[in-house]
Amino acid sequence: MAETKKLFIKTYGCQMNVYDSERMSEALGASGYTETQTPDDADMILLNTCHIREKAAEKIYSELGRMKSLKTAKPDLKIGVAGCVAQAEGAEIMRRQPAVDLVVGPQSYHRLAEMEIKTRRGEKALDTDFPIEDKFEALKHRPKARRAPAAFLTVQEGCDKFCAFCVVPYTRGAETSRPVQRIVDEAKNLVERGVREITLLGQNVNAYHGTGPDGNEWGLAQLIWELDKVDGLARIRFTTSHPNDMQDDLIDAHAYCAKLMPYLHLPVQSGSDRILKRMNRSHTADSYLRLIERIRAARPDILMSGDFIVGFPEETEEDFQATLDLIKEVRYGYAYSFKYSTRPGTPAAERAQVEDAVAAERLQRLQALITQQQVEIQNSMVGRDVTILIEKQGRDPGQMVGKSEYLHAVHINDCDAIPGDLVQARITEAVRNSLAGTMI
Ligand code: SAH
Ligand code: SF4
Ligand code: F3S
Repeated sequence: MAETKKLFIKTYGCQMNVYDSERMSEALGASGYTETQTPDDADMILLNTCHIREKAAEKIYSELGRMKSLKTAKPDLKIGVAGCVAQAEGAEIMRRQPAVDLVVGPQSYHRLAEMEIKTRRGEKALDTDFPIEDKFEALKHRPKARRAPAAFLTVQEGCDKFCAFCVVPYTRGAETSRPVQRIVDEAKNLVERGVREITLLGQNVNAYHGTGPDGNEWGLAQLIWELDKVDGLARIRFTTSHPNDMQDDLIDAHAYCAKLMPYLHLPVQSGSDRILKRMNRSHTADSYLRLIERIRAARPDILMSGDFIVGFPEETEEDFQATLDLIKEVRYGYAYSFKYSTRPGTPAAERAQVEDAVAAERLQRLQALITQQQVEIQNSMVGRDVTILIEKQGRDPGQMVGKSEYLHAVHINDCDAIPGDLVQARITEAVRNSLAGTMI
């Protein structure tokens, strides 16, 4: 039997990186690696990185600096960088931090095992190609190990939209969709391993257009209806969507597909048409609001979430006010908001930047409004009956924690359910960032 080596993976960025880290762990599992939760006893450390904002990218270099000292103590330790920083900066990473043995871009993960062998020979390994073969096929090890009740499944990758601020089209490449049958097979495998809820992932997941079993191109709604047929799968979610790809059949699925959860992450970025245009978003604030009206007509209780950028180049106080107005009209259950970060190579990087202090102050105001909405929506859940997918034990004895349909974390005391159970509960209290409930 081959000796077992230990792998420590640290994941940054979006859920697609979480999914990719699982795939990389499985791929290296076939080469004799088991995962460890600490870098101290690892034979290989992989940082799965994010390039979306400057801070995220810079954090990697300071982390690599720390990892280097581990390598001084243990010269056999291999250090790898994966993900979007690997894709964007490639060999530059090895130049800046010579302790790095391996750099692998998101499209080359199926070559990781070979690359690992190369590092064992004392060579450096670098792969940031956009190869034509299907990495997902090469990565399917389909292990039988039990899984947590909620899982991610990447169905679409890449982006052709080129928003003026964003690096994703460069780091993840052009939009591609996996074939329907392969996704269904992977979903069935997950269900056999205890998964009850699957979140379909893509940088533009609702632009999904994979080949269906009939040879035709299928959209996301068709894929969801196909997954609806998978026995044992109780819940389907998808993220992240773009407003321009929200087709009617997908809105209908929110009305008629019982497994599709009433939660939708639909980033708008700004409420000012002038800024949206400069962002190259090709939608307006009004078209976004009308779209949400249609979605709410289909599924009145749907919980909306969004992403916002403040301090985009040339953003005035008036533009920012328009964003606050839009937020007030939508009422978000969750939102992620960021100060604009200049990304080299993107069109917006060349423009007149908003002063940092101004952007910081706007971010504070925006986040205060979002928090207020979030709290109001959480409070409005009190007294309501929800279904909870139990995920794990809570902090107190006898307490279990799970997620409602609306993705709210709910604690239940005196709960005899086990992870993977779906239980009916009444919400009794809204506590900071979570809800408390009792079993019905
Ligand atoms: N594909 C998704 C989001 C991908 S990136 C979409 O189109 O909405 C996730 C979020 O990061 C974006 O929605 C945006 O709000 C934020 N983001 C992307 N680039 C950024 C930048 N340069 N500065 C600040 N925030 C950024
Ligand atoms: Fe980035 Fe825009 Fe593509 Fe989203 S749609 S990934 S924000 S370029
Ligand atoms: Fe970051 Fe890459 Fe995801 S840049 S947000 S890890 S697609």
